Amino acid sequence: MTTRKALMAGNWKMHMNAVEGCRLAADVAAQCRGYDDREVLLAPPFTILSEVSHALEGKGIITASQNVCWEEKGAFTGEIAPNMVKDAGCSAAIVGHSERRQIFGESNGMINKRVKGGLAGGLLIILCIGETLEEREADRAFTVLEEQLRKGLDGVDGGQMEKIVIAYEPVWAIGTGKTASKEQAQEVHAFLRGLLGRIYEKDVADTTRILYGGSVKPANVNELMAQPDIDGVLVGGAALKADSFGSIINFQ
Ligand code: 13P
Repeated sequence: MTTRKALMAGNWKMHMNAVEGCRLAADVAAQCRGYDDREVLLAPPFTILSEVSHALEGKGIITASQNVCWEEKGAFTGEIAPNMVKDAGCSAAIVGHSERRQIFGESNGMINKRVKGGLAGGLLIILCIGETLEEREADRAFTVLEEQLRKGLDGVDGGQMEKIVIAYEPVWAIGTGKTASKEQAQEVHAFLRGLLGRIYEKDVADTTRILYGGSVKPANVNELMAQPDIDGVLVGGAALKADSFGSIINFQ
């Protein structure tokens, strides 16, 4: 049986100044019990990536940017290059978050460029996908997810997949307190793993980590993590407090 190391990720979104972020990072680090079956990742806002990465040095926690550009440098106001992300001490980047898609109009094509640019820059990429409530109710969830996954990974070969993590974040569950049930999440994760097997090969499907995100809390993390195809979580609100994120990291 393939064992996939769990990835417990906290997305701070547009929260935390330097002092608050370094304090939270240190408090989260203090909660980590040094398991070898799971990794912990924090994604602070761009402005404090360096400070937080620095504060976490030697603590075994990965840091990630919340987006990354496909270009190395140039006239791209508001963007961050892969090398800048690495220079800030990060080894990963989140790409295609639904807030980027919905609020800032990022398309599958643009997200694909970010995926490939981030990979070329040596970053681990967390590619987020997820359907809206409208799409789910219209029975289009699986069609939308398939399109987001295929287009997001267009041109990424099987060998590069070890640097890709997929995050399934149903838009209707983000920040709403409404989590997908463990059955709903497992159903989608199994579908995505099957799809990875069709796009690539079975061993890629077996080894790629698929995270769940959307109102993950200490109260629901155990049942989500018990699902065979859920390999970790991407947490928003509950990652902003060390005690709740600590309980999530230390799921049973
Ligand atoms: P919440 O955990 O606040 O629902 O946010 C999920 C999310 O968007 C993580 O990227």
